[in-house]
Amino acid sequence: MPSTDDPHRHANARATLPRARGFDNTLSLLAEGYGFMTRRHAALGSDAFFTRLLLRRALCVRGEDAARMFWQPGRFTRRRALPPTTLKLLQDVGSVATLDGDMHRQRKAMFMGLFGPLERQRLVALAEAQWRARFTHWPDRMSVNVHREAEEVLCRAVCEWIGIPPLADAEASRRTRELAAMIAAAGSAGPRAWRALLVRNRTEHWARALVDAVRAGRIRPPAHSPLCVIAGHRDADGMLLNRRHAAVELLNLLRPTVAVARYIAFAVLALHAHPQARARIAAGDDAYTAMFTQEVRRYYPFFPAVAGRALHDFDWRGMRIDKGTWVLMDIHGTNHDPALWGDPQVFRPERFERREGSGFDLVAQGGGDHYAGHRCPGESATVDLVASTLKLFAGEIAYEVPPQDLSVSLRRMPTLPASGMVIERVRVRQGSAPSVAFRGR
Ligand code: HEM
Repeated sequence: MPSTDDPHRHANARATLPRARGFDNTLSLLAEGYGFMTRRHAALGSDAFFTRLLLRRALCVRGEDAARMFWQPGRFTRRRALPPTTLKLLQDVGSVATLDGDMHRQRKAMFMGLFGPLERQRLVALAEAQWRARFTHWPDRMSVNVHREAEEVLCRAVCEWIGIPPLADAEASRRTRELAAMIAAAGSAGPRAWRALLVRNRTEHWARALVDAVRAGRIRPPAHSPLCVIAGHRDADGMLLNRRHAAVELLNLLRPTVAVARYIAFAVLALHAHPQARARIAAGDDAYTAMFTQEVRRYYPFFPAVAGRALHDFDWRGMRIDKGTWVLMDIHGTNHDPALWGDPQVFRPERFERREGSGFDLVAQGGGDHYAGHRCPGESATVDLVASTLKLFAGEIAYEVPPQDLSVSLRRMPTLPASGMVIERVRVRQGSAPSVAFRGR
């Protein structure tokens, strides 16, 4: 859909936007991590600048206006917008993220249908049961690494939620390690990424076998379980997903749910850094817990940016953006944009108190419309999982935080508290919910 605007009325973006110094900035991006764009936005005094990354011209943008431009449905494709290893580790060819137009809409509707309120509640209940079962063992342990435990909890919970037949302990741990490796290596190149790709092949093999087993009637997950829905999904062309793409979409539920463990580690870190919040969360102040969770997603870094290629020419701020332009939408920079957030470097849940979100300001999981665009379908589930874990940690256990390296490197992508967030001397609080083994189906 080419723009109908008169091309002579508009400046070409290349002619008018500043350009970052250096012929190619790939090494600077790897060295500077999340701060790469922020630094240049500040130095150039502009929310948009051109640079070259991987020898390719890139337009880097941040802020609400840029988010509205970027997340307008149908404007950008994610195809050939990410380095191949990152794409393969995070989404993969044939996944919903790589689709456009009607194919995307129909596949996305399937994803959104999996995340209704009742389905989210079921996922949260499964995760809570996993946490409580673990809490009873923690008093006997010298220390507990919250990030690692959260990965296991979430992997087991999401496998059960999806409808995967119960996994033995060893297999659940193996799957957790595989999914965690894909997330940890998504921002890397070289041997670390290659190892994670090998791991991914194994996990995909397992996921394909699950799809085959459902289609052949060898396993019968509940009718509305995600496994059943994906195995039986027909695309906009009326065709069943091929087994490879069905497996990719199963991984698209498994891997990012395990990735929520990073937000949980950050949330427990934030609880430690802001001890006054604990009593409010423990007392069941859900409005405050919700604000605290939003601030965790705003403040702590996860996805540095989302990349897209313009599907057609269009105008933005009176400039022409050409079809094919590679745009990097700065997520971390937008979540810390001083034009949107007062004292962006301060962790302050109360900032959400009377804030009407525009859908293009807090963009940790994308912006705009979930159905029509590429915004993350797991966003509400992420919020629910983090909020429920905060309540458990504030209300159901007491613990100490030993000396450790809690720094969060902005160079490592994706990042974490350096220690993973270790707690010790855990006690289960009297009167907290019983720790029953829970099978949700
Ligand atoms: C750890 C928390 C999460 C973060 C930070 C996150 C972040 C994102 C981001 C930035 C996007 C890309 C938006 C775009 O391309 O414009 C995305 C898309 C996606 N996310 Fe998440 N996500 C998280 C959790 C989840 C969960 C829990 C699920 C599912 C269980 C999920 C499934 C997906 C899928 C399938 C897409 C592609 C959607 C599309 O292209 O239409 N994510 N996510």
